[in-house]
Amino acid sequence: MGEVDPAFIQDPEHRPKLSPIEATGIPVIDLSPIINKTVKDPSAIEGLVKEIGTACKDWGFFQVTNHGVPLTLRQRLEEASRKFFSQSLEDKRKVNRDETTLTGYYDTEHTKNVRDWKEVFDFFAKEPTLLPVSSDEHDHRIHHWNNQSPQYPQNFRVIIQEYIGEVEKLAYKLLELIALSLGLEANRFEEFFIKQQTSFVRLNHYPPCPYPHLALGVGRHKDGGALTILAQDEVGGLEVKRKIDQEWVGVKPTPDAYIINVGDIIQVWSNDEYESVEHRVMVNTEKERFSIPLFFNPAHDAEIKPLEELINEHNPAKYRPYKWGKFLIHRRDTNFKKHNVENLQI
Ligand code: SIN
Ligand code: FE2
Repeated sequence: MGEVDPAFIQDPEHRPKLSPIEATGIPVIDLSPIINKTVKDPSAIEGLVKEIGTACKDWGFFQVTNHGVPLTLRQRLEEASRKFFSQSLEDKRKVNRDETTLTGYYDTEHTKNVRDWKEVFDFFAKEPTLLPVSSDEHDHRIHHWNNQSPQYPQNFRVIIQEYIGEVEKLAYKLLELIALSLGLEANRFEEFFIKQQTSFVRLNHYPPCPYPHLALGVGRHKDGGALTILAQDEVGGLEVKRKIDQEWVGVKPTPDAYIINVGDIIQVWSNDEYESVEHRVMVNTEKERFSIPLFFNPAHDAEIKPLEELINEHNPAKYRPYKWGKFLIHRRDTNFKKHNVENLQI
């Protein structure tokens, strides 16, 4: 058994229980009423909107099936991810994450000052940078970004980009359902995502850990963006803080489903009607685990604030407006630790 490295050790109150409660209550929502239908059934869609609204309100998390993302594409990316992480550390570090583009490999992520038991490859979906830059600088970064794509496995970058395209379609559909569930126009959120979208995909690899009762794959946190669309494998380990009793409960892997969670931006837009919920990842001694979240984020210059339609004199805005891009950069500069929407509460 390996020696315990103190960098990975959680404070006693944040250590996982080795036999967690398995949550049977997290809704699994069948999206077939809106996927690949030429004629849509309004009552089925209405039912779906209700289900999504209840899931966002009660859990902040749900799973979706019949979501339209081709399984073969997901499998191709999962396979590419396995191949990429199976390389030597030296080879993986050839595509180390670059601090300006934030694309690439790293294995030293800390959440709330404790090191996570994982290694990661991040890939920005649209722009090879977080910052709006001059066109020369843009060309330079595109060049860098291209070089940042691993040489192995073959077609890694093409597969990721194709995958992002398909998952984004799902993300837009989910945003429409969420907008309707809040009594808004279906396309209410679209304007925030049109240009310079800052979405990114993350490949996570959690190797077996000799002390899973002390460490976590990812420490407790909330997601800062709009929506997270997560493919987890069959191993399991994701835990969500259940709203009704604040207990940590495990999200049971459902083959081919996606796990969706509301991020801080939807919390702000909805003025706390839907809350961004804390979650974390357990590791285990035997099995490695892979997961692939897509963080669906608005444009760099999007201004985020409670939506006018949802506030009134009885329900005043709970947050000050903020620019998403600036917020994101500040979060990066403070190592994603301190900066969160709670600081913007009125
Ligand atoms: C995360 O929340 O960052 C990762 C989730 C997972 O791997 O299940
Ligand atoms: Fe997360």
